[in-house]
Parts: sequence; structure tokens; C-alpha cells
Amino acid sequence: MSDIIKEIEDLPGVGPITAEKLRGGGFSTLEAIAVSSPLELHEIADITEATAAKVILAARNAADVGGFISGEELYERRQTIGRITSGSSRLDELIGGGFETQAIIEAFGEFGSGKSQIAHQLIAAVQLPIEKGGLDSGAVYIDTENTFRPERTMSIAKHLGQDPHEALRNIHVARAFNSSHQILLAERAEEIFEKGDARLLVVDSLTAMFRAEYIGRGTLAERQQKLGMHLRQLHKIANVYDACVYVTNQVSAKPDAFFGDPTRPIGGHVLGHSATLRLYLRKSKQGQRIARLVDSPSLPEGEALFMLTENGIEDK
Ligand code: GTP
Ligand code: MG
Repeated sequence: MSDIIKEIEDLPGVGPITAEKLRGGGFSTLEAIAVSSPLELHEIADITEATAAKVILAARNAADVGGFISGEELYERRQTIGRITSGSSRLDELIGGGFETQAIIEAFGEFGSGKSQIAHQLIAAVQLPIEKGGLDSGAVYIDTENTFRPERTMSIAKHLGQDPHEALRNIHVARAFNSSHQILLAERAEEIFEKGDARLLVVDSLTAMFRAEYIGRGTLAERQQKLGMHLRQLHKIANVYDACVYVTNQVSAKPDAFFGDPTRPIGGHVLGHSATLRLYLRKSKQGQRIARLVDSPSLPEGEALFMLTENGIEDK
């Protein structure tokens, strides 16, 4: 532990200009720098990777970034994981028993594949008592595409046996106007989680604003940095508040130039090491949808067929 290093400016090799660049890229604390990679800092702050490695080392020595915990402690922590039912037992089974807390779950697929419908279902279902597949808690909904429909959640809530108006009262909704606003809203959302008023955060869509604002390869690194920072915020909410974070990501049936192959993690290395569950959704006939679990470190790959109906998400 160091007595002198308290701010990022105190790190050897970090002057005021570098500090400003780091803050601009979302690295405003010693902790954030301590868990970053030399390549990330090199891209954000225009310092060499060798310097970045030294900066990271100094931040690690100065910051309290935690350390080892026993396997048993980790096991205990995993025991508190909560699960939210999707309304389809097959879909729940595919992802290990429902949408889990302490995780970011990404649904990706083309338009109309059911990403937002799952969001509308989850914000009602999270309010159910635990024995009915909920977490007896509220939800936060960051809506970047103006596709939140209270009426839809009301009818789903009604089907789940809830008072529709009461259900809406437990949902905190905000519309994001651009990617910076989206990041700000995630920060504000923490206050709601801190009060214990929510165990589910929906970001629908995670990627649309970033895609729209960062067009062309020249700004790719900047976009990845910002998205990476946003994802760190979301991970923090998932872990600190034992919350489920559900995010959507539209991909065209054809792999797109920015996000590449839809079955590969978005954000490349930024999201690569996270424990995110990824669901690839595709349309089948009429209201039928197919969910495929991809890249899961702990669950077998597989598919589940579910239905989009008047009642929300259901088994076929
Ligand atoms: P994008 O946001 O455009 O990328 O699509 P998405 O994946 O979010 O699609 P969304 O979840 O909005 O799914 C739209 C589909 O849900 C529609 O095509 C309908 O099949 C179904 N749907 C939406 N509302 C209702 C409803 O009230 N009743 C029924 N039966 N189906 C609905
Ligand atoms: Mg949608």
C-alpha cells in the first residue's frame, strides 16, 4: 500500500494531460486502472504499452482491488444468485433455470426476433414472489430506441396475476438520447439499486446509440472504449447489487461490418473475458422464436423454442 498515491495523477508517468485522457475514457479511479490492460490504456491515453504496464502496476499496488477469496466464499456468493423466469420453461432451462443475477445477459438477433419482448416480460416477472420465479423486486429500464410499451407490460403483468398499475409503479424507466446519456443513466440507476428498489436492469438497446454515433473505422477504438466503460458499469451493478442485467443488441442476419460475426462477442476483448450469457434469437413461423445459447463458459450449447403471444413469452 502506498501513502502517496491517492489520485490517478499521483501515478508515475501520469501527468495532467494523460490523467484527463484517462478520465475521458472512463478510467477515473485507481481501481479502474488497476484492472485495465496496457493496450486499453495505450489506446485511450496515447502512452506506450510499456508505460501503461507500469501505470497499471502502480495502480494495483495503491488501489484496493480485492484479491483472492476462498473457493467456499465464492460458492457462498454463487448461492445467492437469483433467477427470473422468462415465462417459457424451455428458455429458462436453456440458461440454467432463468435469467440470473450477478450476470449480464445479452440477447442478440435481427429486428422482431423478440429481444424487447423478453425485456417487457422480465420487468413484470422480476416482481413475482421468489417461489413463482421472480425476485420480489422492481426493475430499471433504459430505453434507447423508444420501444418501451407500458401497455404491453400491463397485459403481461395481468397474465402473471399482478395488478398492472402496481407493476408499472415498480418499473423505473428512462429514455436515453445518446450514448453519453445512456452512460449517465446507468450511473443514476445505481441510486435505485442502492435503495434496494430493483434487482433487474434492462438496457434496450445496449449497442444502437454506439453504432449510430461511431460510424467508420477511425472512431472504432473510441467506441469500444466507451462501450467497454459502459459494460464495466453494468458489471458493477450486476455484482454489487446482485442484479440481473439484461441487454439487447440488434444484429442483421448478415454479419455486419462493425460488430462482425453475430455469434462472436460484441466489443471483442472488451466483453471477451466477462461471464456474460449470450442468447442468439431468431424468428421461426408465426409467433415462434428460437433461442440459442452461445459461448457459455458453464452451460451446454443448445436451443429452445418459445412463443410470443398475447400473454408475453410462453412455451409452445
Ligand atoms: P428490434 O428492436 O427491432 O431489433 O426487434 P426486437 O427483437 O426487439 O423485437 P420485439 O421483441 O419487439 O418483437 C416484436 C415481435 O413481438 C412482433 O413481431 C410480434 O411477433 C411480437 N409481439 C409484440 N407485441 C405483441 C403482442 O402484443 N401480442 C403478440 N401476440 N405478439 C406481440
Ligand atoms: Mg427491440
